[in-house]
Amino acid sequence: MERLMHVIPDISYKEDAIAYINEHYACNSAINGVGGLNRYLDDYEGWLEKLALDRQQIPNEERVPAETYYLVRESDNRIVGMINIRLVLNERLNHRGGHIGYGIRPSERNKGYNKINLYLALKRCQELGMDMVLLDCDKNNLGSAKSMQALGGKLVREWYDEEHKEIDQRYCINVKEAINKYQDLYEPQIVKRR
Ligand SMILES: CC(C)(COP(=O)(O)OP(=O)(O)OC[C@H]1O[C@@H](n2cnc3c(N)ncnc32)[C@H](O)[C@@H]1OP(=O)(O)O)[C@@H](O)C(=O)NCCC(=O)NCCS
Repeated sequence: MERLMHVIPDISYKEDAIAYINEHYACNSAINGVGGLNRYLDDYEGWLEKLALDRQQIPNEERVPAETYYLVRESDNRIVGMINIRLVLNERLNHRGGHIGYGIRPSERNKGYNKINLYLALKRCQELGMDMVLLDCDKNNLGSAKSMQALGGKLVREWYDEEHKEIDQRYCINVKEAINKYQDLYEPQIVKRR
């Protein structure tokens, strides 16, 4: 069984990180949870600086404090996914966006990796003292909706998003309950922190 871990982005992943984004473009895939990396492909070092600032951001209507992680496979140190955790919500994110955005690179999808990505994020949320997290997705994005449901996500709202012309769903996850319920399933699939 492959094991995965969250890694704070650093310079050693530069080449793979750029390939990660370019793979999305090549596959015409939606990009999510990358902390804006797609806008910094020619300034990876600048993006690392931005991430450091993101963590310390004072919440306002434009920006909130956030953490971005690579989901890395232990066996080959490849970035297989990314995730962005918003530590608090402003009005905009409370309305649409929620606490967590995530994605798995196209060549690594449908292997159960995003469920592990979300489980690891919930563990981080618990460390940060977050009791509940809210997550949104397009109702047609079954891989995303099923990831949330697999971690105990309860559907709390469904609405028509005029701007994106889609039906959106909001799920709520009780962090402690989810970890207690699913740890036996997911702990063997993650790399323990030393
Ligand atoms: C959504 C996404 C993160 C799913 O990642 P993934 O690693 O393929 O998901 P997993 O393999 O962990 O699968 C999670 C569940 O969704 C199911 N699933 C995954 N892709 C699916 C698809 N295209 N259609 C139907 N079900 C799908 C899996 O079978 C699994 O269900 P299960 O718990 O019943 O076994 C990935 O498709 C992606 O990055 N998409 C683009 C970015 C995006 O949409 N991000 C989310 C924005 S809200």
